[in-house]
Amino acid sequence: MVRHLSLVFCVSFILACTFLSKCDAGDDNPKLHIVYMGSLPKTPYSPSSHHLSMMQQVFVENDSTNFLIHSYKRSFNGFAAMLTNHQKEKISQMEGVVSVFPSKNLQLHTTRSWDFLGLSKSVKRNRAIESDVVIGVLDTGVWPESDSFKDEGFGPVPKNWKGSCVGGKNFTCNNKIIGARYYIEDTARDLNGHGSHTASTAAGNYVHRASLFGLAKGTARGGVPFARIAAYKVCGGLGLCDSSAILSAFDDAIADGVSIISISIGSSYQENFEEDTIAIGSFHAMAGGILTVNSAGNSVPSPASVSSVSPWMLSVAASTIDRRFIDKVVLGNEKILTGKSINSFSLNGKKFLIAKKNSEPDSEKCSKDSADICECLDRSLVEGKIVLCNGFSGYADYEGGKPIGSIIKDFSESYPPFVSPLPSLFLSANDYDILRSYTNSSKIPKAEILKSETIKDPNAPIVAIFSSRGPNTLVPEIMKPDISAPGVDILASFSQAVSPSDDGYDKRSTKYNIISGTSMSCPHVAGIAAYLKTFHFDWSPSAIKSAIMTSANPMKGSKDEVGEYAYGSGHVNPISAVHPGLIYDISLDDYIKMLCNLGYDSKKVKLISGKNNSCSNTIDRSLVRDLNYPALSIDVKSNTSFTIKFERTVTNVGIGKSIYKASILPNPKIKITVVPETLSFKSLYEKQSFVLTVTGNELPTQTVISSLLWSNGIQNVRSPIIVNVSN
Ligand SMILES: *[C@@H]1O[C@H](CO)[C@@H](O)[C@H](O)[C@H]1NC(C)=O
Ligand SMILES: *[C@@H]1O[C@H](CO)[C@@H](O)[C@H](O)[C@H]1NC(C)=O
Ligand SMILES: *[C@@H]1O[C@H](CO)[C@@H](O)[C@H](O)[C@H]1NC(C)=O
Ligand SMILES: *[C@@H]1O[C@H](CO)[C@@H](O)[C@H](O)[C@H]1NC(C)=O
Ligand SMILES: *[C@@H]1O[C@H](CO)[C@@H](O)[C@H](O)[C@H]1NC(C)=O
Repeated sequence: MVRHLSLVFCVSFILACTFLSKCDAGDDNPKLHIVYMGSLPKTPYSPSSHHLSMMQQVFVENDSTNFLIHSYKRSFNGFAAMLTNHQKEKISQMEGVVSVFPSKNLQLHTTRSWDFLGLSKSVKRNRAIESDVVIGVLDTGVWPESDSFKDEGFGPVPKNWKGSCVGGKNFTCNNKIIGARYYIEDTARDLNGHGSHTASTAAGNYVHRASLFGLAKGTARGGVPFARIAAYKVCGGLGLCDSSAILSAFDDAIADGVSIISISIGSSYQENFEEDTIAIGSFHAMAGGILTVNSAGNSVPSPASVSSVSPWMLSVAASTIDRRFIDKVVLGNEKILTGKSINSFSLNGKKFLIAKKNSEPDSEKCSKDSADICECLDRSLVEGKIVLCNGFSGYADYEGGKPIGSIIKDFSESYPPFVSPLPSLFLSANDYDILRSYTNSSKIPKAEILKSETIKDPNAPIVAIFSSRGPNTLVPEIMKPDISAPGVDILASFSQAVSPSDDGYDKRSTKYNIISGTSMSCPHVAGIAAYLKTFHFDWSPSAIKSAIMTSANPMKGSKDEVGEYAYGSGHVNPISAVHPGLIYDISLDDYIKMLCNLGYDSKKVKLISGKNNSCSNTIDRSLVRDLNYPALSIDVKSNTSFTIKFERTVTNVGIGKSIYKASILPNPKIKITVVPETLSFKSLYEKQSFVLTVTGNELPTQTVISSLLWSNGIQNVRSPIIVNVSN
C-alpha cells in the first residue's frame, strides 16, 4: 500500500533532516529558521525594520525581503526566514538575538490507527461572563458552518477583543467564531477535521442528537458552550504543522486578547525552552496573563516521551471515559463473538460469505504473508465476502479486493478502536482463532458484522496506552504531564471535507466524528480552565493551573509503571477546581528566576523577559525545585543518603478564616516532614509558606511516590511527591 510506504519514508526523511542540520554535512541550502529575540522592547521600536536590517546584513547582494517569511512583532520579538547555515551563524551573533534554530514539522496529537503503527500522518454558569471568554485554538482551522459554532443567542463580540476575522477563502466569522487567521493554505477552513473537533470540545455549543451515523448519540457540547472561539490555522489538511507558523499564531493570539490558548500539537521529544516554539509562545502568553493548555503527546508509552515540558503550560495526558465501543459478529452457526470497533455500518441482518483464503498460495502479485494481513487481496477470492486479517496493516485492501467487510486479529487489546471505513471489527487472539477454526471447518462459512454499540466501562478512567509519559528529563523538578482528561473515543464536530475514517476510499462525510488522542484531552482542560476564568477572572495562569492540578481525583496506576508519569496530579475534576481552597501561585519573576537558576545566560534571560537585572548574582541549580509548582519532584542519586527541602507558599482563596492540616501519604522508603503542619489563615488572599523535607537512605534505582494533602475538612489540596532515584 503506497500510502503506508510514503509515510514511512516521510518519517525517516524528517529524522535525516534533523540529523543533517545538527551535523551540518556541508549542505548549505537555505532552510526555514526561527530567529527568536525575546520580549518586545518597551521603547519606541519598529520590529519590522529591525528584522529587515538584520536580514540585509546577511543578504549582501540579494534582496532579502523574499526570504523573510514571518515577523513576530505583536506580542514578542523575532522572525522566521530562509537562511543558510552561514547566515544563521552570522545572525546568531547579532545583538538582541536569543536563539536561531530550524523550523520543523510538529504533529497533531491525535491517534488513529496509523499513528499507533508508527505511521503518523502527521452546571453553574454565568452566560454573560462566559461570553466574554475567548478560547484561542491553534490547530487545523474550523468548519465554520458546524452546528457547534452557530451564534444564535450570542451578543456582539466582547468589548476588549482586539482580534479580527481574516479567514481567507470562503470563510466568514459570526458571534461564536469571532476570530480567524491562517498561516498555511488559503483559508482558515478546516480541511482535516482535527481543529473543528478540538475547538468544539473546548467551546462548542450544545448540539442535541449529535452522533456519528447514530453512534454515541447525545448532546455534544464544549466545556464553555457560551464562550467565543478564535481559530488560528497553523496546520494544513494533511496535518503538518510548521513551528514558525505556530509562533506567528501565538504572536497574534496574545495580541488579539484571547483568554486561554488550546494547542493540541507538539513534537515527540523534549527540547530546550529557547528552541521550542510552543514553550516560547506560551511563555509570552503567560507573561500576558494567558494560560496555554497543551497536549502531552501520543508516543507509544516509553519513559520521558512527553514533549510538553515547560512549567508555564498545562500539559494534558489522555484517559478513558466510561463509554466503550464494542462490536459483534454473528457466525453462520449463530455463535456471537464480541470485539472492538467504531463501525457505523449495518449489514441489515444479512450474513455474508467469509473468504477462506485471501490469495492463491503461488500468487506473485500478492504473497501469502501480505494477503494474510490483508495488505493485498485477490479480488476473485474475496470480492463481496468478509476477509480475515491475521494482523493490522489497514482495514483491508479495499480497492484491490472489494471485500464487504473485514475481521482483524487485535494487535493491542488496550488500544482504543477507531472509525472503520467498511464493516469491520477487531477480535482478541483467542476469538480470532475460534473464528478461524469455524471458517476452516465449515463448508460455507458466513457471518454478519453488526453495527457497533456502546457499553459502560467500570474501569474508567485509566490512562490511554498512547498517552506520552514522563518524566521531564529537561527539568526533573517539574512534573510532567500535569493532569489527565478524557481523550479516548471522543465525539465532537468534524470537517465535512474529509471522511471520518480518513481512508481514501471512504466517501462518507460527517458532521460529528469520534477520535482519540491527547489532542482530545487538551481542549477538555482548556474548556475547564475557561470555565474557572468565569469564576475568577483575575486569577493568574499559574493560579488556574494550580486549582486544576490540586483538585484532581487520584487515579490508579498500572503495576508496571509510575502512575504519576502517566497522569500527573490525576484526573481533572472541574467542579472541585472552581473552589480549590489554596493555590500555589507563580509570578513571571518566579519563572525568570527559575530560568536563571537553570543556567540560562543572563543576557538571554533579560531579552526573553524584557526586564533589567533578571538574574541575581547567586545562581543555584538546586533552587529550581523551589519554583512554587503544585507538585514536588526531584532526582536523587542511588545508594546515597539525601535530605531535600522544598519551599512552597500557598494563597488562601477559599474561606477567609480557615485552618489547613498537612497529611502525607506514607511511603516506607522515604521520610517526609512538613513544617509547619498546620496553616491558620485569618483572611482571604493571605499567603503562608511551609517547608517539606524528604529524607532517604541509600535507595536503589526506582521512583518513589508519595503525596502532600492540605485539608480544612472541606477542601483538599493535593500535590504529588515524586522522588526519582537513579545513578
Ligand atoms: C544571491 O542569490 C543567488 C541566486 O539565488 C545565489 O546563488 C547567491 O548565493 C545569493 N547570494 C547571497 C550572498 O546570498
Ligand atoms: C464554501 O464552502 C462550503 C463548504 O464546503 C461550500 O458548500 C460552499 O459552496 C463554498 N462556497 C463558495 C463560494 O465556494
Ligand atoms: C485454518 O486454516 C489455515 C490455513 O488452512 C491454517 O493456517 C490455520 O492454522 C487454521 N486455523 C485453525 C484455528 O484451525
Ligand atoms: C533598564 O535599564 C536601562 C538603563 O539603565 C533603562 O534605560 C531602562 O528603562 C530599564 N528598563 C526597565 C524595563 O526597567
Ligand atoms: C548500590 O548498592 C547495591 C547493593 O549494595 C549494589 O548492588 C549496586 O550496584 C549499587 N549501585 C550503584 C549505582 O552503585
